[in-house]
Amino acid sequence: MQNILEIENLNLSFLIDNKKFNCIKNLNLTFEKGKMHGIVGESGCGKTMLMSSVLGILPNNAHIDTGKILFNGENLLDSNTNLIKFRGRKIAYIPQDPMTSLNPLYTIENQLLEVVNLDGKKPLDEAREIIIQKLEEVGIQNAKERLKSYPHELSGGMRQRIIIAMALLTGAELIIADEPTTALDVTIQAQIMEILVRIKNSGKTIILITHNLALIWQYVDTATIMYLGEIVERNSAKGLFKNPQHPYTKALIQTLPKGTEEKLKNIKGQPSPITEIITGCAYHPRCDFCMEKCTTEHPEFKNNVMCHMY
Ligand SMILES: Nc1ncnc2c1ncn2[C@@H]1O[C@H](COP(=O)(O)OP(=O)(O)O)[C@@H](O)[C@H]1O
Ligand SMILES: [Mg+2]
Repeated sequence: MQNILEIENLNLSFLIDNKKFNCIKNLNLTFEKGKMHGIVGESGCGKTMLMSSVLGILPNNAHIDTGKILFNGENLLDSNTNLIKFRGRKIAYIPQDPMTSLNPLYTIENQLLEVVNLDGKKPLDEAREIIIQKLEEVGIQNAKERLKSYPHELSGGMRQRIIIAMALLTGAELIIADEPTTALDVTIQAQIMEILVRIKNSGKTIILITHNLALIWQYVDTATIMYLGEIVERNSAKGLFKNPQHPYTKALIQTLPKGTEEKLKNIKGQPSPITEIITGCAYHPRCDFCMEKCTTEHPEFKNNVMCHMY
């Protein structure tokens, strides 16, 4: 099977008060073409920074120390690679808050026309037809009238549909969706997820970043569990639930509601800030299975899990 994206030995750090702190550590990850890949972890685990590295949209104080990010074999981190060729054209981005990608001053039509008519050569009527068709595909009713709306006149769910339509209009092969449904209520969330599944079934590759394990179970093909800048477990989504290995994965699964009777469980503590240096396994301060070795020795990633128990 062909990989659309390969991340090799990625190290990313932040400069904070003139000191360097690691945020992503020796990370290796591949993404097979035509699948929906989930990346899960609590807030602060480095999911957004990982994807920002792929998109080339890192904050000013971030620095990529080592690594390669190969998109269809071409290294996006190579200084000779023209990122403009990829960003928004071959790789599209769906953010958590669609307002960050929409311009409040322009109508939906104007913003989508810009994407469809990059070279300005399509007749207006033709470009408009293409847009209306895409908006209908992502479930926007009365698409023709909606074109005249400004972003603030639409609901959050509708704005997210427009961002997805925009991603499709670029013809991107890879779509990175960073918590795309977190700000939406559950019924809308399910509708958006179903649109993403349809897009995947049309041959595109999707990376879904989420802290919601329930979405992984329902919609995703492969699952990657991330903790403090490292991949701690990887499996098919179904395999992960059937046979979770890493204590962090097990703890995350336990937080899922099982019925109305049971009280929700949570994981003790929270991911530490990158300024806190932890020796051994990064998860050991929160781990129910912590052994002596875990406090001093960093576990290797072997057979899809990074834990001394295996
Ligand atoms: N500009 C920045 N300067 C310093 N630290 C940052 C900056 N941006 C993010 N971080 C830190 O990097 C870590 C990973 O952040 P992020 O990738 O946003 O996590 P996630 O998306 O998993 O919630 C967090 O500890 C966060 O506080
Ligand atoms: Mg994030």
